Amino acid sequence: MTTDTTTKDTSAAAPVPGETVLDARGVTMRFGGLTAVRGVDLTVNAGEIVGLIGPNGAGKTTFFNCLTGLYVPTEGEVRFKGEVLPPKSFKVTAAGIARTFQNIRLFANMTVLENVLVGRHTRTKEGFWSAVLRGPGYHRAEKASRDRAMELLEFVGLDHKSEHLARNLPYGEQRKLEIARALASEPGLLLLDEPTAGMNPQETRVTEELVFAIRDMGIAVLVIEHDMRFIFNLCDRVAVLVQGEKLIEGDSTTVQGDERVIAAYLGEPFEDAPGAEEVAEVEAAEAHAEAAAEAPADTPADADATAEAPADTPAEADADAAAEGAETTTDAAPGKENDR
Ligand SMILES: Nc1ncnc2c1ncn2[C@@H]1O[C@H](COP(=O)(O)OP(=O)(O)OP(=O)(O)O)[C@@H](O)[C@H]1O
Ligand SMILES: [Mg+2]
Repeated sequence: MTTDTTTKDTSAAAPVPGETVLDARGVTMRFGGLTAVRGVDLTVNAGEIVGLIGPNGAGKTTFFNCLTGLYVPTEGEVRFKGEVLPPKSFKVTAAGIARTFQNIRLFANMTVLENVLVGRHTRTKEGFWSAVLRGPGYHRAEKASRDRAMELLEFVGLDHKSEHLARNLPYGEQRKLEIARALASEPGLLLLDEPTAGMNPQETRVTEELVFAIRDMGIAVLVIEHDMRFIFNLCDRVAVLVQGEKLIEGDSTTVQGDERVIAAYLGEPFEDAPGAEEVAEVEAAEAHAEAAAEAPADTPADADATAEAPADTPAEADADAAAEGAETTTDAAPGKENDR
């Protein structure tokens, strides 16, 4: 890598204990008729590790995309250390938020070290003449960047592979490299989207330690994961998203003990759950239609019921709700299009 050179002192300011780092309020993201995230409030304070969990398609990645400028929320506001975030991902990174992606995004044909150096570009200044002339300033700055990148590789346990091509790393190491690259922008908040997906239990434990170490470096962490043991071991607070809405937020014990959370994962509707009313209405309408179909056709009451069912019940709304639910489930498969 011979591009970014002069090191700028633009790293995120040191955290103030207890300071609210991230303050997301009323974040809503709609895609046409589908509301993927609905009125979500979430804060992360300095020194915290906060978990974001929820079934597939709950809106977790979409919420991350709203926080990092990949999506401009339809409604709501996101502040980082009190400032409203600019709606551009490179500006969000420069402001101090870094992230990893659910679908790993590395420069496959670059070396491990080069990938981390790319992550430093928001903290370095492209000195054109400096790069062309390659004077002492250029060499000093390039060395400083490489030293920092190597330090980060050592931190995640990949320093011995610095010259390997990223694409030749095993999956678990690619995830670690993504973390090193994110740390290279010297963030105040790190967002991790399923950092242990595809890892074996041993690698997961190592990643858990890594996240604690990142927190101890003064970087607040917001992490999405499906591995509940990982989440509940790690997080000071956990928020649960279901069908785009925040169902509950609390410490691990509170969230683990909440039967609505268990029901959400088992796919059982429960009282007051987002969407439960619609599901109940759909089921009632279906039962009604089934009963009407089975009954003798000459019973006037039943004939009425058959005719009226679609009109009386909010049938269209129900159908939409059902379609929305189906889309949520279908599109939740890994590799979906929104993980940008
Ligand atoms: N760009 C988009 N256009 C249309 N719909 C989208 C887009 N991005 C996300 N969605 C939809 O928003 C919903 C939430 O998806 P999202 O990927 O945020 O869920 P998730 O909680 O991250 O799921 P998973 O645990 O499977 O990663 C899904 O129904 C998805 O299809
Ligand atoms: Mg996701």
